Amino acid sequence: MPSEAKVPAPAPRCPLGNEYRHFAGPHLQNPYPFFARLRKEEPVTFSPELNMWMISRLDDINAVLNNPAVFSSAGAIASGDNLVAEARAILGPGPIIHDSPLNTDPPVHTRLRRFLQQGFLPARVAEQEPRIRRFANALIDAFIHQGKADLVEQFAYPLPAQVILAMLGIPMEDMAQVKQWTADLFGLIFGKAPAEAQVAMARGVVESRAYCTKLIEQRRREPREDLTSELVHAQFDGDVLKTPELVSLVGGSLMAAGHESTTAQLSLMLKNLLEQPERWELLREDRTLIPKAIEECMRYEGVAAGLIRTTTQEVELGGMCIPKGATLLVLFSSANHDEAHHEAPERFDLSRENPQHLTFGRGIHFCMGATLARMELRVALELLLERIPELRLVPGQDYGYHQNLITMRVIRHLHAQWPVS
Ligand code: HEM
Repeated sequence: MPSEAKVPAPAPRCPLGNEYRHFAGPHLQNPYPFFARLRKEEPVTFSPELNMWMISRLDDINAVLNNPAVFSSAGAIASGDNLVAEARAILGPGPIIHDSPLNTDPPVHTRLRRFLQQGFLPARVAEQEPRIRRFANALIDAFIHQGKADLVEQFAYPLPAQVILAMLGIPMEDMAQVKQWTADLFGLIFGKAPAEAQVAMARGVVESRAYCTKLIEQRRREPREDLTSELVHAQFDGDVLKTPELVSLVGGSLMAAGHESTTAQLSLMLKNLLEQPERWELLREDRTLIPKAIEECMRYEGVAAGLIRTTTQEVELGGMCIPKGATLLVLFSSANHDEAHHEAPERFDLSRENPQHLTFGRGIHFCMGATLARMELRVALELLLERIPELRLVPGQDYGYHQNLITMRVIRHLHAQWPVS
């Protein structure tokens, strides 16, 4: 986030923006009624709490995502400007992570994306399905005879991490450490941590850089059949990735981004399908509904609350004049409920004809892992429906909604039960 001095807060003109509380209370439990008010009354508003402009209508969001020259991703995240001096000193000079597709604009973005793309071509992703099935089945094996499980902790949390670690050639015994480093990285980039926590997170980020550097050097000497080796040895017209770029791609774009969002989306998807048992019944009876159910879940409650952009010039949007250098929170989750584009958006509808959504983003930064993530969601759902058809939620539980990051809404628990014979 930029310092207060960069964006003069136009608070008096934005009563709803003043009212917004991102990290607690009713807006955390269920932000959708508030976003509906924003779309109607203050579609482009300023939140003093976030020091960000919030963009809530799909049309305005499309205008932002389709114009990266004015709404830049470069330096929008990971600059580290907002961190305390001790954390900054630990991280060393420069941004928290080196250039990655997520925090660059063309032409740098185009070049980095070209390297990463190879690992995510549809045919390459399809090769992962047997492995994903094997991991998911083993996780289910571990709790199926107990008649109960926390589906976040015991299923949604490990599965996507196992998948991306296996793809990168990272040993499974390092998973807990990788999870901690991911929390450290995202906490620094998107979080609002107090000084002491920032220092601990900065140490984690430095350790993870060293770990990735070692992994990359190993694969440079002895390539293996994994995505890390492929990136290390990839070249286009003589152009190769340098070590800091590889550390950022392997450590940031894949080792970190490759599981957090999928874990969170898988948890939310299972919650929404199990909360109303008739939804689960419908899928049990007609498995052809699964792909549509995944898209409707992502539209109805997407994990990507919003992503960040910075204005490169003064610009008018939704009737508001946004200054140069302002930070925008582009509310994907609000766009997914925009009544101007979705019929009865607050209705969860497995028969919705075309449940389009922005949960994977749109435009040049569209999620590179979308095909992989969709496959993980599908395999997880197919196997749970097949192996635990009587799955039910434990009534009256607290899911532990959590918004530690500006960009991501997560639940911590999903307690489920089923009869065992
Ligand atoms: C359900 C799971 C996922 C969700 C909801 C999700 C969401 C997103 C979103 C919204 C963006 C766009 C960011 C922006 O516009 O600034 C994005 C970008 C990206 N995602 Fe995902 N993602 C998921 C899974 C994955 C996976 C599994 C991987 C990799 C293995 C991945 C890798 C990336 C990368 C590399 C980018 C940057 C693309 C670019 O900036 O050009 N994502 N993701």
